Amino acid sequence: MKRIVTMLAVAGIAGFVAAPASADPQSDLKAFQGHFKKQYPTVKFDEFANGVYGLPQYKEYRTMWESYNEFPPYDLGVEKGKKLWDAKFPNGESFGSCLKKGDIKPAYTYPRWDKASKSLRVAEMDIMDCAKKNGADAKKLSFLEADLNKDTKARVQLAELTGHYYSMFRGKRVKPDVDFKNPDTLAAYEQGKKFWWARRGQLNFACSNCHMDIAGKDLLNQPLSPGLGHPVGWPAQRVPWQRMETIMQRYATCNTQVRAKAYKHYGPEYLSLQLYETYMSSGLPLTAPAMRN
Ligand code: HEC
Repeated sequence: MKRIVTMLAVAGIAGFVAAPASADPQSDLKAFQGHFKKQYPTVKFDEFANGVYGLPQYKEYRTMWESYNEFPPYDLGVEKGKKLWDAKFPNGESFGSCLKKGDIKPAYTYPRWDKASKSLRVAEMDIMDCAKKNGADAKKLSFLEADLNKDTKARVQLAELTGHYYSMFRGKRVKPDVDFKNPDTLAAYEQGKKFWWARRGQLNFACSNCHMDIAGKDLLNQPLSPGLGHPVGWPAQRVPWQRMETIMQRYATCNTQVRAKAYKHYGPEYLSLQLYETYMSSGLPLTAPAMRN
C-alpha cells in the first residue's frame, strides 16, 4: 500500500488534465483523442488499439508481445469459446443463429442502446440472453447463473465465448450504436464520463489520473496504457492473469487497486463507463481477443 502511494508520488503528476466541464459527446471525443494525438504525434492512430504496446517508450514490451502473438496464449481459450459458440441449444438453435437473426449484433456496434428496455447493452449481455431465450443448459454455461464478480471459472468461460465472437470482427472500427439525441442515452454517457474523471478509493485516484495524466509512464514497474484504445482489445488475456477475462473484470481490478469498491459486472456503473470509453475510442479497429499487459 505504502509502496503504491510512493510510486504515485514518484510518477509525478505534474499537470492534471481537467475534466471537460460540460460538452457534448462529439466535442468530448475530439478533445479526448486530441489529447493523445498531441502527446504522441508520431504514433499512428490505429496503434492506440494495441494498448501499451503501441507507445514508442515500450519497445521492449512490444518485442515480447509480438513473439506472444506468433502463438497467442489465448488461442486455447478462444478454441473452447468456439466450441460453445457452435454447440446447439436443446431447441436446435445456436449463438450463431442469434447473430444471424440480429439478437446478437456485430461486435463493433457495442455498447448499444436498447430502446425497448431503455438501457445499455454490451455483447456479453446479448450473448447471455440468447442462451437463456433458447433454453441453454446452465450446467454447461456456468456464467448464466454465477456471480461474475466472484466466480472466476464462470467469468473465464464467458470471456472465452465472447473472445471467439470478437475474433469474427477483428479489424472492424468501433462505432457504438447510440443516439445522443435520446436524453436517456445521453444521461448514461454522462454517468460514464463522470465515472472516468472522478477520484475514488483510499488512494483518491481517477481513471484519468492513471490512464491520461501518467499514461506512458511506469507505475510499480507496470507500464500504463493510454485510455484511448482501452475497450477495443477486450476480451483479453493479460500476461500476469494467464486467462481470458472481459473488460468488466479489468474495471473491477482497476477499482480495487486504488482501494475503491468494485461495482457489479454488467451493472449500470460499468456499462456507462464502457460506453464512455468505447465512444472515446470511436474509429479504432477491434483487436480483441488480444494479449494485454
Ligand atoms: C493507480 C493507477 C490506475 C487507476 C487509477 C486505474 N487504472 Fe486501469 N490500469 C492500471 C494498470 C497498472 C493497468 C495495466 C497496464 C495497462 O495496460 O495500463 C491498467 C489497465 C487498464 C485497462 C486495460 C488496458 C489495455 O490496454 O488493455 C483498462 C481498460 C483500464 N485499466 C481501465 C481503467 C478504468 C476505467 C479506470 C477507472 C475506473 C482505471 N483503469 C483506473 C492502473 C490504473
